[in-house]
Amino acid sequence: MSELLQVEGLKTHFQTESGLVRAVDGVDLSVNEGEVLGLVGESGSGKTITALSLIRLVSPPGKIVAGRVMFGGQDLLQASEREMVQLRGDRISMVFQQPKASLNPVRRVGAQIAELFIHHRGASRRAAMNQAVELLARVGIPAPERKALAYPHELSGGQAQRVMIAMALALKPRLLIADEPTTALDVTIQAQILDLLRELCRDTGTAMILVTHDLGVIAQTADRVSVMYAGQIVEERPVARLFDDPRHPYTRALLASMPVQGRVAPRLGAIPGSVPPPGRMPAACRFAPRCAVRAERNMTICTHEMPALYPVEGGVSRCWCDAPAEATT
Ligand SMILES: Nc1ncnc2c1ncn2[C@@H]1O[C@H](COP(=O)(O)OP(=O)(O)OP(=O)(O)O)[C@@H](O)[C@H]1O
Ligand SMILES: [Mg+2]
Repeated sequence: MSELLQVEGLKTHFQTESGLVRAVDGVDLSVNEGEVLGLVGESGSGKTITALSLIRLVSPPGKIVAGRVMFGGQDLLQASEREMVQLRGDRISMVFQQPKASLNPVRRVGAQIAELFIHHRGASRRAAMNQAVELLARVGIPAPERKALAYPHELSGGQAQRVMIAMALALKPRLLIADEPTTALDVTIQAQILDLLRELCRDTGTAMILVTHDLGVIAQTADRVSVMYAGQIVEERPVARLFDDPRHPYTRALLASMPVQGRVAPRLGAIPGSVPPPGRMPAACRFAPRCAVRAERNMTICTHEMPALYPVEGGVSRCWCDAPAEATT
């Protein structure tokens, strides 16, 4: 499988009144052509800021301070703003949680989609409009000719997200970044939208980074998973391995807190303790203060030194338990 995107040592920090927030602090990721990479972690772990950093859309005071984002042989962090504008929507596109907030409220949806073909592909207005209607049909909008004339407020949440997906995939990008694309929708609609995303990506050969805090969404959609904790990746595995044999104690805790069908289970976030506040981020393992394994085995290295990403079956894990013996002596 050939690699499409490779992220190394990405750091995005916020200078705030109460100090420096290291929202993304040395993230490594890779995405292969056509695959779905799930990016999962608790609220505040840095998933959205990571996603925005990849296409350089972090707003101030956020600042990318280190790393490489290799895409198509080019480091996007070194590209000109003009190159980025050209790239966004065309070769890399994004879908967000709140579809209506991303649509222009005063323009008809058909015209908004058509605009993409006109701007990026030099299509005539009429040809672009035809393509827009075709796309609306493809994403399952009923009566697409009529709906093309609707304004965003006339759509349901599910329909608006379908329109966003149509826009994101209109130009057949190589990579789609979807940040919690179904979180704002009803449960029944969620599954339909995820299926649609997967199917369209497969049709167009588009790879996807699917950002979510929901392991159920990951199980349904991802091929490979990166687990994020406090601004870092702590585990990266093929999806089946992650669920069958999670290695990092944080991943295990996440899975244990997942609702199981037919029984009331604690929700995600039920892991004892909380993510350390920015000012008190441990210089060693960031999960150590909450880690049951560390406590049980009484491991001292965890609170003294930061573990690297060590190879485990099918992927990597940032845990001293997975370090080769020579690393811990
Ligand atoms: N404008 C900002 N100023 C200061 N800190 C920020 C800002 N935006 C984000 N952060 C911090 O960056 C960290 C990561 O935020 P991010 O939105 O990426 O989390 P997330 O994993 O996407 O969470 P969620 O699941 O809630 O969407 C958080 O600790 C947040 O407080
Ligand atoms: Mg987020």
